[in-house]
This record gives sequence, C-alpha cells and structure tokens, in this order.
Amino acid sequence: MNTLIINADSADTPISRHIYGHFAEHLGRCIYDGFWVGKDSAIPNTDGIRTELITALRNIGIPNLRWPGGCFADDYHWRDGVGSQSERASIVNFHWGEVSEDNSFGTHEFLRLCELLECEPYISGNVGSGTVREMSEWIDYVTGVGTSPMTDLRRKHGREKPWAARYWGVGNETWGCGGNMRVEFYADLFRQYATYLRSQKENKLYKIAVGPNTDDYHWTEVMMREARDFMDGLSLHYYTVTGTWADKGSATDFSETEWLTTMRKAMRMDELIRRHSTIMDRYDPEKRVGLVVDEWGTWHNVEPDTNPGFLYQQNTLRDALVAGVSLNIFNNHADRVHMANLAQTINVLQAVALTEGAAVLLTPTYHIFAMYQGHQDALRIPVSLTSAQIPADTGVIDAISVSASIAQNNRVLITLCNVDPNESQPLSISVRGRSIGEVTGRVLTGDQLNQHNTFADAQQLVPRPFSEISVTGDTLNIQMPQRSVVALELN
Ligand code: AHR
Repeated sequence: MNTLIINADSADTPISRHIYGHFAEHLGRCIYDGFWVGKDSAIPNTDGIRTELITALRNIGIPNLRWPGGCFADDYHWRDGVGSQSERASIVNFHWGEVSEDNSFGTHEFLRLCELLECEPYISGNVGSGTVREMSEWIDYVTGVGTSPMTDLRRKHGREKPWAARYWGVGNETWGCGGNMRVEFYADLFRQYATYLRSQKENKLYKIAVGPNTDDYHWTEVMMREARDFMDGLSLHYYTVTGTWADKGSATDFSETEWLTTMRKAMRMDELIRRHSTIMDRYDPEKRVGLVVDEWGTWHNVEPDTNPGFLYQQNTLRDALVAGVSLNIFNNHADRVHMANLAQTINVLQAVALTEGAAVLLTPTYHIFAMYQGHQDALRIPVSLTSAQIPADTGVIDAISVSASIAQNNRVLITLCNVDPNESQPLSISVRGRSIGEVTGRVLTGDQLNQHNTFADAQQLVPRPFSEISVTGDTLNIQMPQRSVVALELN
C-alpha cells in the first residue's frame, strides 16, 4: 500500500520561485526563429520577439531566464551584439552547427525579452575566451548608475536607465567546453573574476560559480574549500540521457524498458543533490551558497532529418514525467537548491514550446510547469512517503514521487507522479496539522508512453480535471493513473 504523510504544520523552507527557471542559448532555433523573429516579421511580435511565446511563458510565471549559453557563452563577446543593428558584426556559432548569426539579438534585446516576460535575467559571462575586463565592463554596461565609459556607451545606444540584473554566471562548464580547466585553476580564476564583478548600490550581484558535472564531487569539494566566500551560487549540470552519449535514444520511439531507464536516471538527481549538498554543508552549514541546477532535462537524439547541431527533439509523456519528478526533487531540496533552469526553453532539448513557422506548440513539459506553478515562493511541507517499488534496469525505483507546499492563500499544493508505465497506484494521504477542506485535482496522462502534442493536435496531453479522490476524516485517498502527473489543491 502506498502511503503519504503531509506534515502541514511543519512547513519550513521557502521554495524559491527561481527553481522554475529556464535557459535560452544561442543554439539551433531557440533564439533565432524561436524567440526572435525580428521587428519586420509577419509573425506577430513585440519589439521583434514572438508575442505568443511571451504570453505562454508569462502564464507559467517564468521567474528567470539564463542566456546566452551554455557553451556559446564562452565564445560570445557582448560588444558584438550592442549598438545599431546595421553595424553589428556577424559571427559563426562554432559550437552549434557552425551557422552564421547576425547578432541582431544582443544584450538590449535579451533584457527587453526579460522585461516582457516579467522575469529576472541570468547572464552567463565569458571566461573561456574572454577577460575579466570584458565581463566587468558588461556588468557596468547593464547595471552601472554613474558616469563611466560603459554607461556612456549604453546611453549612446538609447538606454538611459540601468537594468536590474543580479544573476551572473562566471563562465559555463569550465571543466569542458568553457576552457577544459582543472578545478584547482578555475577556483583561483573564479576568485579573480569575482573580485572585479562589482555590485551597484541598487543591484547586488548574485555570482554563480561553475560547479560540477554530474557526480564530480572533487570539483564541489575544491570550489567550496577555496572559493566559497566569493560566490553566492554553485552550479550543477545533469541531463537525463536514456542511452549513451553517442546514441541517446529516440525522443518518440522507445520501449517500456527505456521508459523505466529514463525514470531511474531522472531520479538520480536526488542522489546528486544530496551528495553535493553534503560536501557544501561541511563548508557552509548555514546554506548561504545556493546549488544552482542551471542545466537539467532530457537529452534525446535529434529528430530525424534535422540539423544534428540544433538539438531539436520532440517531447512526450515521458518528458512530462521527468519534469514532474525533477521539480519534486528540487522542491524537496529547497533549503540548498536556490535555482534551476530547464534546458532549453524553445525548440532545443526538453523545450516547453516548439515552433513551426508562425505556429507555437506547447509541450507536455510546459503543462507540468503550469501544474506546479503554485509551488513558486511557497513554503515546503516535509513529506514522508512509502511507495511501491518497480523494477528499472539495474534495480528498483519508487513508483511515486511527491512534493508539497503551503502556497498562496493558505492552499496546500501536492504534486505527485506515478512513473509506473502499466499500473495505476492507490495512494492514501494523511494530512497532519490542518483540515483537508475542499480538494480539487488536475491530471496529465496519456494512453501511450510516447504520446505527444503535435502541430495538428496540440491538445493530446494537457491537464484535465482529476476526480479519483475520496476523503475520510484526515485521510485523502486517490487512485493515480499509470504514467501520470497529478496536482492536488486543498483549500
Ligand atoms: O544545453 C546544451 C549544452 O549542454 C550547453 O551548451 C552546455 O553547457 C551543455 O553541455
């Protein structure tokens, strides 16, 4: 029997809304032909940015957007992307398909996008091929208040007021595409950069150091030992890859066994966060430094006949479950995880929206963010779960994943996933410390493991009302359909 205890009277830690962040790199059709269509486009746009996407992302309360990369960030020189459009130099996007970009989407356009989305910018600086001066000048250009060469330049380019931009990443994957550095070297380099990245009175910077790749615990150890006082956040990158990096597996054509492998690998996020947190706790018991999971999500083979450098993949019910499980894990670790960014927002990897010409398609992953939205800035409720176990390649996994919070207006929000591909699961939920009141539910599920929304039928996987609920005293009984995500609200 699956049982869950919700300790509503012990709600403790705020779940930062920044856990629900996103990531937009200059990669494939994420920026160009995704967000950015240009002011003269026939596609409805606001200052060159697709209006439909602005509306869709505002509807899920996007809290922040990371840009311009990714690997691209360490090849990007921000001065190429400011000033009059006609004078901007084209560049070749070396990492992603070697396509030429005309730099029409630069700093001003990104910050305008964030204004339209009402979200906070998170900018990754160039450490791999840039300089301390280049990054410190970028920060002055964006946030500077006084008179300096950079603030003058900004004004010359038509922007009088500084922007609010507190999140800055000091490089990306410096252990790989961002410079192939050893952590001992990067820890010192980070300290040097951090010294010259200056806060303004009105704009206190939150400096994010490059953290480990997956389970590189040595990286975390050295960064925390040598550089913790200079950072506010340490990143973690982990992708759910079903197969191998050489052959990741198809996004839509997969077996039940592969489904289970995907779930097991997605659940590994919990172990990674626990083990990195254990190291961080030794150096930072107050948990001042946030773990920033600024790249996560599924990474499948690209769709047939698409550019291999563009990382375009479809998004099925399986991806929705990965999103649900991952967000539950982040919520449950909200004391250490201060931010997370799904890779990547539009047309790349586990996207929340796909585009084709003027059409925009919301993926099932988008709908999971909608169902979980109430957790943003809510108070996490400690939960205790006993779940059925199901076999998954090398072992067994919990069929059920959960997180809970006290959200706005004192509502209790419980988000649940049943990753079992075949069996529905009964669940008995004891609610402690408050009465259950009125219960409403929504569910996202499908008939097939690989079901997905298409441009011809965009409503296959959307949240629908959930009514398999009965209440007896302080116990709530539900029947979770196989392969489903359920969100319950107790009023
Ligand atoms: O998200 C795609 C790529 O994955 C990013 O550019 C890089 O940081 C990571 O390896």
